[in-house]
Amino acid sequence: MRNETITPKLIADSIALQSISERRAWVHNQTPEEIRRVANSWAFWARDAQKPPPGDWRIWLFLGGRGAGKTRAGAEWIRAQVKAGCRRIALVAPTFSDVREVMVSGPSGFLNIGEEDERPRYEASRHRLIWPNGAEAHGFSSEDPDGLRGPQFDCAGWMSSPPGPARRRRSTCWGWGFGWVKIPD
Ligand SMILES: Nc1ncnc2c1ncn2[C@@H]1O[C@H](COP(=O)(O)OP(=O)(O)OP(=O)(O)O)[C@@H](O)[C@H]1O
Ligand SMILES: [Mg+2]
Repeated sequence: MRNETITPKLIADSIALQSISERRAWVHNQTPEEIRRVANSWAFWARDAQKPPPGDWRIWLFLGGRGAGKTRAGAEWIRAQVKAGCRRIALVAPTFSDVREVMVSGPSGFLNIGEEDERPRYEASRHRLIWPNGAEAHGFSSEDPDGLRGPQFDCAGWMSSPPGPARRRRSTCWGWGFGWVKIPD
């Protein structure tokens, strides 16, 4: 196999086929720097279902059960958009507390994923995240839908656990959803 065809996903798939002792040996053979890079690489960890759909989509709806990886997939997609040049992002959740506790500071939130020096800082008073490259994400609550009037967003919005029936099913073990919206030019 030629070197350039070895992707993080291919490495992850081959490690997944190994025994526990082979995996331990693989980890043992990496430098701390390589381990850190692998730990932070979404290309390595993402399951196919967590990758954005191909083609020219406007809305990506991710329906999954508890712990399916919905929040992480959304946060990683936004992270990739920021790297690709997106500068103003809307984060929409049922409440401001959901924005803060799930999207921002939860285990899958922006303060806990990706390379540490590329992570945003959070301004709680303005419900705002600012990345080192200048990109900003503003949090909105569906309890105040008019709050979305006025500010302009250049490429991305994200709605987590929409209110209504999906929200009411949140405490059950299956089937609530979650979507991302590309804002057209
Ligand atoms: N592909 C993955 N590889 C490794 N860890 C992952 C992966 N996807 C998600 N995780 C981790 O698994 C945990 C659960 O993921 P996540 O919070 O995205 O699930 P969820 O579907 O949003 O859960 P909930 O139903 O509670 O909202 C988090 O710690 C997340 O970082
Ligand atoms: Mg979640």
